[in-house]
Amino acid sequence: MTHDELFELGSSYDEMLEQGISLSGESKDFFIEGRIDHLQARLHDTGAPPVTSVLDFACGVGDASSRLAAAFDGARVFGVDIAEGAVEEARRRVDNDRVEFGLLDAVAEDDRFDLCYVNGAYHHIPPAQRLAVTTRIFGLLPPAVSWRCSRTTRGALRPGW
Ligand SMILES: C[S@@+](CC[C@H](N)C(=O)[O-])C[C@H]1O[C@@H](n2cnc3c(N)ncnc32)[C@H](O)[C@@H]1O
Repeated sequence: MTHDELFELGSSYDEMLEQGISLSGESKDFFIEGRIDHLQARLHDTGAPPVTSVLDFACGVGDASSRLAAAFDGARVFGVDIAEGAVEEARRRVDNDRVEFGLLDAVAEDDRFDLCYVNGAYHHIPPAQRLAVTTRIFGLLPPAVSWRCSRTTRGALRPGW
């Protein structure tokens, strides 16, 4: 099965992920909430202005998108992904007026977001495309941005950079 086919499965991929994570003794939600709590704390520490819009890039089936909406009260969240199956599953799962989903081309050139959340994605993007993807994301953010990488993301970025 190719990587593209895997993510097109949407809900089946999610079940596989949950099975893998269960080895840690925690659920997928534990890790999502931990990441978002950490992000909120860092934004608070740096005195960042209130977040009114969030791009959840490579949103998968939308698990983090709904939690981002809960964490950033009043913010609109736009989850985008390359896999149509994942986007359809996200739309089925998340019922929230402030959360929308679409494929990558649903983000317009002049769209702007206060925050872009990217988790578990860079290692799926071919190294040769990572710079272009990152440049695109930066173009959607305000001029003064801070880029924070998790250990996994740093590892995924290193080989191609
Ligand atoms: C491991 S999942 C992570 C999903 C979600 N961010 C999460 O943390 O649960 C990786 C996702 O990246 C998406 N993806 C892979 N390459 C992509 C690209 N070039 N642009 C956008 N999304 C991509 C896949 O379709 C898949 O939904």
